[in-house]
Amino acid sequence: MTSKIDSGNLPQHIAIIMDGNRRWAAARGLTAGDGHKAGAKNLEVIMNHCLDLGVKHLTVYALSTENWQKRSPEEVKGIFDLLVWLVKNNFQKYAHADIRLNILGNFTVFPDYVTQAINQAVSVKVKNPKLIMNIALNYGGRDELITAVKKIIKAKTPSDQINEDLISQYLYTAGQPEPELIIRPGGEVRLSNFLLWQSSYSELYFSDILWPDFGPEQLDQAIIWYQQRQRRLGK
Ligand code: FPP
Repeated sequence: MTSKIDSGNLPQHIAIIMDGNRRWAAARGLTAGDGHKAGAKNLEVIMNHCLDLGVKHLTVYALSTENWQKRSPEEVKGIFDLLVWLVKNNFQKYAHADIRLNILGNFTVFPDYVTQAINQAVSVKVKNPKLIMNIALNYGGRDELITAVKKIIKAKTPSDQINEDLISQYLYTAGQPEPELIIRPGGEVRLSNFLLWQSSYSELYFSDILWPDFGPEQLDQAIIWYQQRQRRLGK
C-alpha cells in the first residue's frame, strides 16, 4: 500500500481523533482500560509509521476538556497511566531522538506524576526533529481560542495588529503548519471541538474502523485519498 503513496505530495501535518477504544474493547468482552491500552499501542505504531513516511507533524486528540472530567476516575487513571508509559517509553529515554513532543492543552491540572512525566519529556531538546508529535490533552478548540484572546489582551496588542497570523502565533500549534488532513476513525462524522481554527482548509477523512484497528495500512489509504483531493484553498 505504501508504494501507492506519492511521496512528493505528502501532507506535512496529519491530525487524528483517536475514537472507538471502548467499543473496540466491548466487542471483545474487555474493559475500557484494555481498549485505551490497545489505542495507546496503536498510537506508537502510527507515530513510527509517520516517521517512516516522512510526515513532519502528527497531532492526536487524546483527552478533550470534557472527557477527563466526565469519565469514571478509574478510566481516567488508566488513561493517565498509559500516557505516562507512552511518554516515558518514547520521549524521556531518548528512545526517539527524531521526535519532539509538544502538548496542546493545559495539562498542569493533571496529577503531579503525570505533569512531571510530561514536563520532563517536553523539555528534552530534540534538534532538527524529523517529526513533531502534538498530543492534545485537556484540549478544546474553543478553550484554545479563549486562552489565545486572553494572552493577546494581556500583551496589550493594538487592535490594528490583530490578524490571522497573530492569532495563529498564540495557539498551542504556534509555528507549525495547519493540518492538511484530519482523520477521524470510529464512525462519528464531526470535529468535536478539535483544532477549530487550524482545520479551516483541512481535508476531513472519516472511517468506521475503530482506533485500535486503524493501523498503517488504513493511514496509507487515508493519505492516498487525500492525494486524490483537489485542494482549492478558497481559489
Ligand atoms: C476515545 O475513544 C478515546 C479516548 C477518550 C482516549 C484516548 C486515549 C488513548 C488512545 C490511549 C492513551 C494515549 C494517550 C496519548 C493518553 P472512546 O473511549 O470515546 O471510545 P468509544 O467511542 O468507543 O466510547
